[in-house]
Amino acid sequence: MSESTSTSGIQSVLQEDRVFAPSAAVSAAAHVHSLDAYKALHARSIADPDGFWGEIAKELHWYSPWSKVLEWDQPDAKWFVGGKTNLCYNCVDRQVDAGHGDEPAIIWEGEPVGGGGAEVRTLSYADMQRGISRFANGMKSLGVKKGDIVTVYMGMVPELAMAVLACARIGAAHSVIFGGFSAQAIADRVVDASSQTIITCDGSWRRGNIVPLKENVDEACKMLGEKAPANVIVVKRCENEIGWTAGRDYWWGELCEGQSEECACEPMDSEDLLFVLYTSGTTGKPKGIMHTTGGYMVYTYLTSKMTFDLRPDEGHVYWCTADVGWVTGHSYIIYGIMPNRVPTVMFEGAPNHPGPDRFWDVVARHKVTHFYTAPTAIRAFMKWGDEHPQKHDLSSLQVLGTVGEPINPEAWMWYHRMIGGERCPIVDTWWQTETGGHMITPLPGAVPTKPGSCTVPFFGVDAAIVTEQGEELGADEGGLLAIRKPWPAMLRGILGDRDRFVATYWDDIKKPDGTRFYKAGDGARRDKDGYFWIMGRVDDVINVSGHRLGTMEVESALVSHETVVEAAVVGMPHEIKGTGIAAFCTLASGVTADDALRKTLRAHVGNEIGAIAKPDLIRFTDVLPKTRSGKIMRRLLRDIASGKEGSGDTTTLEDKGVLEQLRKNDKG
Ligand code: PRX
Repeated sequence: MSESTSTSGIQSVLQEDRVFAPSAAVSAAAHVHSLDAYKALHARSIADPDGFWGEIAKELHWYSPWSKVLEWDQPDAKWFVGGKTNLCYNCVDRQVDAGHGDEPAIIWEGEPVGGGGAEVRTLSYADMQRGISRFANGMKSLGVKKGDIVTVYMGMVPELAMAVLACARIGAAHSVIFGGFSAQAIADRVVDASSQTIITCDGSWRRGNIVPLKENVDEACKMLGEKAPANVIVVKRCENEIGWTAGRDYWWGELCEGQSEECACEPMDSEDLLFVLYTSGTTGKPKGIMHTTGGYMVYTYLTSKMTFDLRPDEGHVYWCTADVGWVTGHSYIIYGIMPNRVPTVMFEGAPNHPGPDRFWDVVARHKVTHFYTAPTAIRAFMKWGDEHPQKHDLSSLQVLGTVGEPINPEAWMWYHRMIGGERCPIVDTWWQTETGGHMITPLPGAVPTKPGSCTVPFFGVDAAIVTEQGEELGADEGGLLAIRKPWPAMLRGILGDRDRFVATYWDDIKKPDGTRFYKAGDGARRDKDGYFWIMGRVDDVINVSGHRLGTMEVESALVSHETVVEAAVVGMPHEIKGTGIAAFCTLASGVTADDALRKTLRAHVGNEIGAIAKPDLIRFTDVLPKTRSGKIMRRLLRDIASGKEGSGDTTTLEDKGVLEQLRKNDKG
C-alpha cells in the first residue's frame, strides 16, 4: 500500500450528536414510514435479492422477461439475464401509453433573463416522444445504429435530454462530456470510444457569456485528424458565429425536418451498453465507466422513488441542479426520475446569474417540491447571504438533497434552516459514477438524519467499513468503504480496459478465501447506530466542488508545459469548493518563476482539461519531498498546502532541507 493510500490512523475529528427525525406527517405520507420498516425491507433485499429486485423490476416495462435476476461471477454481475427492455420507452412512451402524454415531463428554464423574464419551455411526455423520435430518425439517416457510441457535448438545453433518450431509443450508447471540458478532453474521449458522431450546440450560456461549444468540437476534430467523427450535429442555441464543415456538420433542426414522429424503441438486452461516462482515476487517463440497461434502469428508478419519496399525481416538481455532463444528471435528472412520472426541472444557467438569488427564484416560480444540489453550492449560498433565499417563497419545498462530497454540519444546518424551513428532510446521498445510483442515503420518511452523515445503505446495498483483508471494523473505526454484494446499477467495466477495472475496484479488498469486495476509494467510519460518515478519498483523487479529479491528470497537464519538469498536485481545504487544487512545480533551468508563469500554467491546465482543473495555488520549488525510493511524499505537501506545520513523520524523507524551502516559498 502506498503512502497516500494508507488507511491506518484515519481519524475523525467530527463529533456530531444532533439527530433530526422526520415529522409524523412526512412519515405517514412516505413510501417507507419508519426506521423499522426500512430495516425490514433492507434485510429482505440482502437476504433475497432475486425476490426483491424481481418484484421491483416488474413495475417497469419489459418486452420479454428475464430468466434469472442475478448472475454473479465476481467481479462480473449480470442483472435480469436475458430480459429485453428499453429505457427510453420506460421514461417516455410508457407514460404516454398509460394516458399521461399531456403531463409535463421536463420543465426547462434558460439562463438569460430578458424583459419578459426567463425563457421557459415545458415539454410533455408526448412532446418528448415526438421530438426524440424525429431526432432518432435523423440520427438513423446519418447511419447511427445500435451498438455505436455517440458523443454528446452540449449545454443544458432540452435537446440534451432528447439526444441521450434518442440514443437509448435506437440502442446506441452515449458518452456525455461535460460542457466545461476542453477540446483536448473531447478528443481523448472521442478516440477512446471510437465515436463517429458528436452532438453539440453552437454555444451555451454561462453567467451571461457564451461557452463556444462548437468551436471546441471543431478544435477537437482538428486534433483528431483522420480519427475525427464523421458527423457533427449542432443545436442552435446562442446564435453565435460558428465555423461549418459541409458534409460533416448538420443543424439539429434541419436533420429533424421531415422526419417521422414515429420511431419504434429497440428492444435491448438487459446487459446491452446504455452509456459510457468518463471519470477521473489515479492515473492520467480518465476511465470510461460502462453502465448497461436493465439493472441501471431498475436501480435508478427505485432510488429516485425512495430517496426523494417521489409520487406521481401529488404535484411534485423535482429539480436537480447538476449538469447532465455528470452522473448525477444522467441518473437523477433523466433516467431515474422520468419513469417515476414526476416533472424534472432542467436549468441552463449558473446559481448567481443574473443575481445570487437565481436558484430561489426558480424554486419559487416553478413551485419546486424536491431540490437536489451539491455542498459546494450550499457553501456559496451561505457566503452570499441569507437575504437572497429570504426574498423568495420557498414554502413549496418538501425534500432537500445533497450529493458529491461530504457536507459539513454547518452547511447542513444552514440548508435545513434557511432553505428547508426546518420542515424538509435532507437526504445526503453517497454514491459514485461507478455505482450508477444512490448507495448510502436516508429515506425521507424513515431514517432520522444526522448533519454530516449520509446515514444508512440503500436496499440491496451491503456496505461495510473494512480492512484490506475484508475484515469488518468496529463502531467508529476508520477504514475502507466497501460494498460486499453486487447491486443492479454497478459499473460493468471500464471501456477497453479490463485489467484496470479489476485492479482499481476488485483487487485491493480480498478475504483470505478469495472473496472480493468493491472498493469505493473512500475512507469512512460507521457509528454505533450504523450510520456512515464519509471521510474523503484514500487514493490520489481529489474532490473539487463535488467533481472528481485525478491528481495525476493535473500533473500530466502541468508537465506537458515546456517550463515544468516535475509537478505534484494535492488537495487543500477551500472555503467554497471543499477541496482546492495545490500544485508544486519544479521548473526547467533558466525559467523565471513568477506570477506571469502561474497565470500561463493555470491557462494551460484549463486548455488541457478544463476550467475546473485549474490549480488554486501554484508553488515553485527546486525539489519535491521524496522518499528514498523516489516516491513523492504527498502527505507533506498536503500539510504545507493547508498551512499546517509538517508535524507528521518525516523519517523516510530523503532531503530534509526540502520542507524548509517549501515552507519559505509561501507565495501563492
Ligand atoms: O468521495 C465520494 C464523493 O464523491 C465521489 C464520487 O464522485 P463522482 O463519481 O464524481 O460522483 C459524484 C456524484 C455521485 C465519492 O467517492 N461523494 C459523493 N457523494 C458524497 C460523497 N462524499 C460524501 N458524501 C456524499 N454524499
